[in-house]
Amino acid sequence: MTEYPADTYAPSAEMAAGAHADKAKYEEMYAASISDPEAFWGEHGKRLDWIKPYTKVKNTSFAPGNVDIRWYEDGTLNVSANCIDRHLATRGDQTAIIWEPDSPDDEAQHITYKMLHEKTSIMANTLKELGVSKGDRVVLYLPMIPEAAYAMLACARIGAIHSIVFAGFSSDALAARINGSQAKVVITADGAPRGGRVTNLKDSVDKALSAVEHDCKCLCVKRTGQDIGWTEGRDFWLDDLAAKVSADCPPEEMNAEDPLFILYTSGSTGQPKGVVHTTGGYLVYASMTQEYVFDYHDGDIFWCTADVGWVTGHSYIVYGPLANGATTLMFEGVPTYPDAGRFWATCEKHKVNQFYTAPTAIRALMGQGNGFVEKYDLSDLKVLGTVGEPINPEAWNWYNDVVGKGNCPIVDTWWQTETGGHLLTPLPGAVATKPGSATLPFFGVQPVILEPTSGEEIHETAAEGVLCIKDSWPSQMRTVWGDHERFEKTYFADYKNYYFTGDGCRRDADGYYWITGRVDDVINVSGHRMGTAEVESALVAHPKVAESAVVGYPHDIKGQGIYAYVTLMSGEEPSDELRKELETWVRSEIGPIAKPDLIQWAPGLPKTRSGKIMRRILRKIAEDDFGALGDTSTLADPSVVDELIENRMNRS
Ligand code: WTA
Repeated sequence: MTEYPADTYAPSAEMAAGAHADKAKYEEMYAASISDPEAFWGEHGKRLDWIKPYTKVKNTSFAPGNVDIRWYEDGTLNVSANCIDRHLATRGDQTAIIWEPDSPDDEAQHITYKMLHEKTSIMANTLKELGVSKGDRVVLYLPMIPEAAYAMLACARIGAIHSIVFAGFSSDALAARINGSQAKVVITADGAPRGGRVTNLKDSVDKALSAVEHDCKCLCVKRTGQDIGWTEGRDFWLDDLAAKVSADCPPEEMNAEDPLFILYTSGSTGQPKGVVHTTGGYLVYASMTQEYVFDYHDGDIFWCTADVGWVTGHSYIVYGPLANGATTLMFEGVPTYPDAGRFWATCEKHKVNQFYTAPTAIRALMGQGNGFVEKYDLSDLKVLGTVGEPINPEAWNWYNDVVGKGNCPIVDTWWQTETGGHLLTPLPGAVATKPGSATLPFFGVQPVILEPTSGEEIHETAAEGVLCIKDSWPSQMRTVWGDHERFEKTYFADYKNYYFTGDGCRRDADGYYWITGRVDDVINVSGHRMGTAEVESALVAHPKVAESAVVGYPHDIKGQGIYAYVTLMSGEEPSDELRKELETWVRSEIGPIAKPDLIQWAPGLPKTRSGKIMRRILRKIAEDDFGALGDTSTLADPSVVDELIENRMNRS
């Protein structure tokens, strides 16, 4: 069994005393949440304003063939009313959103709850004007601008289901998601400034819509004022329509189990799947975790650096904080523009109290030296968070020492698009942390470690295997959009009666959880999930490519890099130009985040006699760790392995 770092960091007495939960309170609440989930979540569901209060709390089944998850199923509410309207009387003039633009020379915006109410209502009426009504889907393809939050909340207000597509995805990926959700409207902007460069978002939307057959309108926000293409009758400027509609839009009464959003995410097979989250349970859990995990208190300034295109942005830029009446910071730019001090300059400028980012950003900034951090006054910081991938102890220590000056507990939050909110995480005043461990479960979460092949639960405290969750929590995904069977097959078929996370995990003798990474064919590149199958299908769609196998390999900054083995069509010659061509191809098929870091020309791939590619071997070669390839005797042609080793691309 693996050795664990011995150092632990207990919360200071001061932190524990002021926190929503200290150790005793956490233990008491956790025990209550497990012994009587109905009573626990029945009580905490009251943190929201319900139109019709629920009488039923939990009705969930992980049973094979009958996976069915419902929370608060007879309650009704509206998410935007919970995130906006209910705060107006007490905090109408408080800033809801601080918007920090790409360029530090442009002025930041402070959007109060009153302004948020007006902007959201106008956007909601604009969507209605375009024919959107309850249950319809709206795709958002937007930069990190306040309109992204208005659009999310506007959809929620009228009961439309939003599906955000990260603006870094290509037009092909966008088209697939517009088609997949049969969206009535796509909301975009003319351009997106990031790191001083501008991408033409509208252009991607135009390309995407040319591959969409159903009627889909385009609502365009003016961000840059650049020249863009325009299709009369299909395209509308937000400003034009907004000027004509009323600023009064009563929130629609929604059932707790009505879908709130669809978010496409990568899996181990085939095309990305549409993860469906619903209204009541999702908001209860997102808001409760935002409050407890970051120990958010009234008046604090909260900054999650994610993009709203990912689940982290949904739960911890928009829904969780706003449901709590918080002030949430939204950042349009990148951590290294105009220089590697931007995060810290922004923390100083807006007096940020809780800061939440990804290990890949921490590693990249750590490499730029401490000077960029030390230049700024970070004394308002209280809690630091990380998410997206395992954090290596070196990066953890730098975050702790250099950014937090040893005074800010680090919350390493493990969760997934599917889970809606944090499942494993320390609470800053309650749980002693260990660098690299996501520590302990949040209230109501029952993690288990299963022996991977037998599926038996390992009951000893120290254990290693696959991570599953034994029972439902309120913000669990409900289904795959349009394909409940795929939902059951992906998450409930390998290990019966458990939710299977796809992650490997160890539990140490103290009961702390250490995520070891994905056990399926999903890789985690800079905290972004990528299915190796997706990259492979993009590569084989190129006319010169016969076959391809994609694996992850350790990458200093990105956590994992993308390593592609490519077999060319006969008659095609490998060349550097072709390598570039394939890189560009993948960027345009999926997006820049899917571009292979290394491409190895593979005259043959190691296959079993039945034709199955032996990925285990390809992973080892990509890791430059081919000393222990294991048994290769079942290969149809073992000599291909020697050839691949000989020409491997990653040599340390
Ligand atoms: C990984 C992001 C270790 C994990 C919220 C998971 C992590 C996948 C952590 C989900 C963490 C996320 N420590 N690994 N703190 N957080 N992961 O859906 O492999 O984009 O299954 O959700 O990221 O990625 P997703």
